[in-house]
Order: sequence, then structure tokens, then C-alpha cells
Amino acid sequence: MSWTKPMSSLLCTILSLVLILEAFTTSHGEFVYHGFSGVNLTLDGNAMVTPDGILELTNDTINLGHAFYPTPQNFRKFSNSTVQSFSLSFVFAILSVHDDISADGMAFFVAPSKNLSNTWAQYIGLLNSRNDGNRSNHMFAVELDTTQNDEFKDIDNNHVGININSLISLQAHHTGYYDDKSGFFNNLTLISGKAMQVWADYDGESAQINVTLAHLGAPKSVRPLLSSSYNFSDVLRDQSYIGFSATTGAISTRHCVLGWSFAMNSPAPAIDISRLPKLPRLGPKPRSKTLDITLPIATAIFVLAAGTVVVLLVRRRLRYMELQEDWEVDFGPHRFSFKDMYHATEGFNKNNLLGVGGFGKVYKGVLQKSKVPVAIKRVSHESTQGMKKFIAEVVSIGKLRHRNLVPLLGYCRRKGQLLLVYDYMSNGSLNKYLYPEDGKPSLNWAERFHVIKGVAFGLLYLHEKWEKVVIHRDIKPSNVLLDSEMNGKLGDFGLSRLYDHGTDPQTTHMVGTMGYLAPELVRTGRASTSTDVFAFGIFLLEVTCGQRPIKKDSQGNQHSLFDWVLQFLHNSSLIEAMDSRLQADFNIDEVCLVLKLGLLCSHPFTNARPSMQQVMEYLEGDTPIPEISSRHFSFTMQALMQSKGFESPDMLCPQFTSIGTFSELSGGR
Ligand SMILES: *[C@@H]1O[C@H](CO)[C@@H](O)[C@H](O)[C@H]1NC(C)=O
Ligand SMILES: *[C@@H]1O[C@H](CO)[C@@H](O)[C@H](O)[C@H]1NC(C)=O
Ligand SMILES: *[C@@H]1O[C@H](CO)[C@@H](O)[C@H](O)[C@H]1NC(C)=O
Ligand SMILES: *[C@@H]1O[C@H](CO)[C@@H](O)[C@H](O)[C@H]1NC(C)=O
Ligand SMILES: *[C@@H]1O[C@H](CO)[C@@H](O)[C@H](O)[C@H]1NC(C)=O
Ligand SMILES: *[C@@H]1O[C@H](CO)[C@@H](O)[C@H](O)[C@H]1NC(C)=O
Ligand SMILES: *[C@@H]1O[C@H](CO)[C@@H](O)[C@H](O)[C@H]1NC(C)=O
Ligand SMILES: *[C@@H]1O[C@H](CO)[C@@H](O)[C@H](O)[C@H]1NC(C)=O
Repeated sequence: MSWTKPMSSLLCTILSLVLILEAFTTSHGEFVYHGFSGVNLTLDGNAMVTPDGILELTNDTINLGHAFYPTPQNFRKFSNSTVQSFSLSFVFAILSVHDDISADGMAFFVAPSKNLSNTWAQYIGLLNSRNDGNRSNHMFAVELDTTQNDEFKDIDNNHVGININSLISLQAHHTGYYDDKSGFFNNLTLISGKAMQVWADYDGESAQINVTLAHLGAPKSVRPLLSSSYNFSDVLRDQSYIGFSATTGAISTRHCVLGWSFAMNSPAPAIDISRLPKLPRLGPKPRSKTLDITLPIATAIFVLAAGTVVVLLVRRRLRYMELQEDWEVDFGPHRFSFKDMYHATEGFNKNNLLGVGGFGKVYKGVLQKSKVPVAIKRVSHESTQGMKKFIAEVVSIGKLRHRNLVPLLGYCRRKGQLLLVYDYMSNGSLNKYLYPEDGKPSLNWAERFHVIKGVAFGLLYLHEKWEKVVIHRDIKPSNVLLDSEMNGKLGDFGLSRLYDHGTDPQTTHMVGTMGYLAPELVRTGRASTSTDVFAFGIFLLEVTCGQRPIKKDSQGNQHSLFDWVLQFLHNSSLIEAMDSRLQADFNIDEVCLVLKLGLLCSHPFTNARPSMQQVMEYLEGDTPIPEISSRHFSFTMQALMQSKGFESPDMLCPQFTSIGTFSELSGGR
């Protein structure tokens, strides 16, 4: 008996040595992990390793997470040689709360640093709009993309891609595999909630990258899903980090990694699927047994407590009561609970109020679970007529993802109220910078030009690049928000449709803002892309001149900014119309271009206005702007309005509701 103790401890030591050797590196730059308990990974964002050993990159809505192998890999033998062959494999699962929808996706990546803090959700946490496509990213990624994003030319919302320095894939394919026997392609669904395995192999000699997928337990097919020739010697740094990235949007999604192997100059070690952690159950937790045992004892207490609870519940129910109809089931993922909205804004506390507009109040909030700051717009709306159509639109617009549009995350409905949840834009509205309160700096020309191009891009996307034509209807500086990097984003698009479902055109409220309304819009009440272009033209003049579209002078007379700028064009001194605060720090060609374009866009005649595609070409300098002279504008705005029997623009006021500004969605007051 006496030998048992030393013997067993020796066995233990040997066993743990073997385990340690196997679990960590078996040779230089080579490893295999079955689950991640106790594994040294560098995690950021919401990434964590669960008690079961699953690497969970995201676990809720609006999450971002990265996991890095802690030390860099040497991708070259010497810093001056070519990138060597490498090979990797991993097992992953994407668990969405909904069967058919999820966002945004996940990726394996090779990157030069462990700092991916400055990346965006749409870019799967790998890049941002500034560095996307830049050769200095030195990045390779295999994306598992569950969102179709037009900006990245995504083929669908269930694809695998090989990405080099950009979210636009070098090659992408609908998720699946080629059957070895038949040679046919078989579909797989990334968001099926089932575990799948990925292999990626790079051959340094032939500079070829292959990516293969299979459902868990199936062998790796001979024919890869993706196979591309690309010389990684032109891409990867010698010392690069490897890891995973995932992001989510409005839909609660868990992006999980169960196992991972990697090797330099040899095939990645096989992952033994019997040793992988088990995926958590989807759906509600099974009922616990202790409940059954304690139930009889609890009954008495329960009966006593029941009365109190009922009273509390009724009160609670009233407080958080929402309106939900059958048709809304389809829009589930985009629906937030009123309770969450209530807590996020500390009960719609005054202190969280960002502003008040014609549409209603806007509050700053922080989502409790994810700690993500949001702007919540509380719109009063009594009629349920047209609500279904409107919500369908909100949801489809919520799918619009473009870097120059403020993302709409979802909505919540209550009797007489609609709550819209947007990303919070930390730098507030452009209005604040054009008309700063005393002492605050305004924007320089380069910043203004950057914002102008951003807004043009966003509007072009709404008008021409999306599946449906979306008319914004209320372009003005207060509806342009600035993110932390001072990128201009258009907000409030489509919201005005809410007021547009009336049946009688006579009583339909016209939506828009004084000073930005095209003459034909005033006459007919009909908005079009061309009326948007008109408002955009006024916006250009306003941003360049730093003046509001309609000004009252000391005698109380109204002057339109358009006419004012036209005077300068007439006197061949256009540059003098520029905001005097810009002083020396501007580019005269750009300023003149924008002023001319502003006049052209807000031309009283519809067919004289360019399309947003043309506007973009002029702004980018791809096409020279046509020469314009003051003769182009033989009608001035006021003359046109007066000819229609209006004395002054003021008289138009009672006819329409000037809807809310978006500035309330922004930070600071
Ligand atoms: C994890 O790895 C890094 C890099 O090698 C090292 O600095 C750190 O101490 C390790 N952490 C643990 C807990 O072993
Ligand atoms: C989600 O991840 C965070 C870590 O970033 C953790 O604190 C939180 O408990 C997780 N939530 C759930 C529901 O697991
Ligand atoms: C590359 O670097 C190694 C060691 O630094 C050196 O021995 C070798 O000559 C270099 N090769 C070339 C082609 O410069
Ligand atoms: C990460 O990079 C950003 C710029 O891209 C920088 O502002 C930040 O300080 C860096 N963070 C760390 C921890 O190095
Ligand atoms: C690429 O990034 C580098 C470094 O960040 C920057 O200097 C360069 O201007 C960028 N190139 C383009 C085309 O944006
Ligand atoms: C695979 O999916 C695509 C797109 O959803 C579909 O067109 C195709 O018919 C599917 N193929 C098979 C074999 O199921
Ligand atoms: C990629 O796949 C092709 C077959 O399509 C194969 O010939 C080639 O050797 C593979 N390359 C790598 C690096 O696995
Ligand atoms: C890849 O590029 C490196 C230098 O950039 C070159 O030496 C090497 O021959 C290239 N490999 C292939 C297969 O073209």
C-alpha cells in the first residue's frame, strides 16, 4: 500500500507535464487548444472565456471583442525573407437569439499589433473607414460574415471571405463545402447555431491561400471553398499577432470559438472534437430540480407573498407597459423593451435630456447590459394607422449601414409613443460648430470639406446605392452629426415618413425646414431626390458661408443666403462669400467649387440640379463642375416665391410643421 502515494503523485506529475506540453506549444509557433480554460490569451472588448472553456468574443447586442495569441508569430525566417507557409484551423459557432438573422460577424486575423481599439462594428472590429483598404494595415483575415453590407460589395449575408487589408474581400463564397464524392457544393449556414470547422492554409512557395469549411466532425474536403493567389510577402510583417475578432449590432449574438490550432511550415495540428467544450443550450434554461423539492415548503410562503407580488407586478406592468401587435413578431430583433429604455435613461430623467424637437424629446442613455451609450428619441404618435408600414420602414432602414449614416439600432413602442434608438454621436451636431456659443472654436475648412463630402456620400447612398430610394427630406446642419473622428453622418432619414401616411394631400403636413424647401416642394408638397439635392445645396452654402439660410436684417427684412451668394457670383467675387472665420486657412479652389455647387444644387428649376452621383463626381474632382454665371439664375428665390403669391417666406410658415432637429441626438448642450 505504501507505494501508492508516491506512485500516484509521480503519475500526476507526468500526466500534467504531458498535458502542459500538449496544451501549450508543441514546437515553436505551433499550438492546439481544445477549449480555452487556463489558456493565456489577450482579450479586449467583451471577449471572455466562459467557465466551460468557450472563447466568447461577443455575448449580447452592440458588442465587440478581440482575442489574441499573447506573443507575435514570426512569419518570415529572417526579416528580409519571404513569408513562410502557415496553417491554422478553428472550430466556431454563432449563436443568435433569432434563427434567421444575426450581426455583424467574426473573423480570424493576422495583424501587426494587439491594438485594434480604433475599429468599427461594421468592419467586424478589424478596421475603420479611414484605414480600410490601406496597404499599411498589413492585415490578413478570414471573415465569417453574417451581414450583407453593400459598402463592402458583400455577396450575401452568409459568406466566407479572404480579406487583405480591407473589408472588401479578395474572394468570397456563400458558406458551404464541396463534397469529395460528388464534387457538388453544399450549403452551410453560419448562424445555424451549430459548430463548424475552418481551415486556412497558406503556401509560401506558390503564394496561395486556401480556406475550407465543414460542419463539426466532417473531414476537410479536398477542394477548398476559397482558393486565391496572393503573395503575403507584400502584406504581412515579420512579427504579427494572430487572433479572432467579432462584433454585433442590434441583434444579440454570441460569437464563440471552441478550439484552435496553428503551425508554421507544417499542417495545423488536428483538433480532437471529442475534447472540445460543449456549446451552451439555446433557449431557456431547464427547470432546476431543487425547485421541485422545496416547492411544498415554499407553497405557504408563496401564498402569503402572492398578494404583495400581484400588487407590485401590476404597478410594474403599468410602468413598463408596451404596445405589441402580432405583425411585430417579424421585427423582433429590432425591438427593445420599454423597461430597458426606462433604465437606460434613468426613467427619462431630465438630466439625460439632450434636446427637444418637433418630433419629441431626445435622451441620452446607456444600455444596461452592454454599457453602450445610445440616443433615444421619444416620438409622440397617436395614430396606429400606417404604423405597421412605418415600423417596417424603420426596420429596413435600420439595415442601412453606411459610414455616413447614423445607425438606427432599433425601436420600442408604447401607447401613443414610439422610441427610436440610435448610436450616440459623441461630437454632437454640426450646428454646434457652425454657430458656436461664445468662445468655442468653429471648424476649419479641411474639417468642413470632410463633413460635406461625408454628407454627400451618405445622401448618394440613400438616393442611389441602396435597394430602395430613400428620400431624406430634412437635410440641414442640425441633422448632421459628428462622430468621435469628426466624420459627418446624416441622421433622421426616413423619419419624416411617419407624418406622410395621411390620405388627404390637403391636410398632409409638409415635412422639412424653412429655408431648405425647394420651390416645387412648397407648391406640390411632393418630396423627391431633387428636393433633397436642393436642401443639400443650401446646406453647402450654409457650411461654407457660416450663415443661416434665411436672415433678418435690422429693418426686419428677410434675406436668403442663396440670393446673397448669387450677388457675389454676379460681381465675380464669389470667394468673398466665404465664412470670414476661415481666414487664411482654406483652399480657394475647394471653397469656390462648393459655393458654385451649392448654387447649382439649389437652383429653382428641378432639371437644372445635378444628381447626387454628379455632385460626388464634382466634389471628388473626377468631373469639372460646369461653368456657371449669374445668368443661370435669372430667377432668384424670392422672385420665384413672390411670383407664386407669397409676400415673404414667413407666410409659408403656418402651412407646415418644421420637424425636429436631430441635434438632440448628440452630446453636449
Ligand atoms: C501571458 O503571456 C504574456 C506574453 O508572453 C506574458 O507576458 C504574461 O505574463 C502571460 N500571462 C500569464 C498569466 O501567464
Ligand atoms: C458578457 O460579457 C461580459 C464581459 O465582457 C460579462 O461581464 C458579462 O457577464 C457577459 N454577459 C453574459 C450574459 O454572459
Ligand atoms: C538576410 O538577413 C540574413 C540575416 O540577417 C543574412 O544572413 C542574409 O544574407 C540576408 N539576405 C539578403 C538577401 O539580404
Ligand atoms: C491604440 O491605437 C490608438 C490609435 O489608433 C491610440 O489612440 C491608442 O492610444 C492606442 N492604445 C494603446 C493601448 O496603445
Ligand atoms: C495609409 O496609412 C498611412 C499610415 O497610417 C497614411 O500615412 C496614408 O496616408 C494612408 N494612405 C491612404 C491612401 O489613405
Ligand atoms: C444554397 O444556398 C443558395 C442561396 O441561399 C441557394 O440559391 C442554393 O439553392 C442552395 N443550394 C443548395 C444545394 O441547397
Ligand atoms: C489549395 O488547394 C488546391 C486544390 O484546389 C491544391 O492544389 C493546393 O495545394 C492547395 N494549397 C494549399 C496551400 O493548401
Ligand atoms: C513574393 O514576393 C517576394 C518579394 O516581395 C518575392 O521574393 C517572391 O518570389 C514572391 N513569391 C511568389 C511566389 O511570387
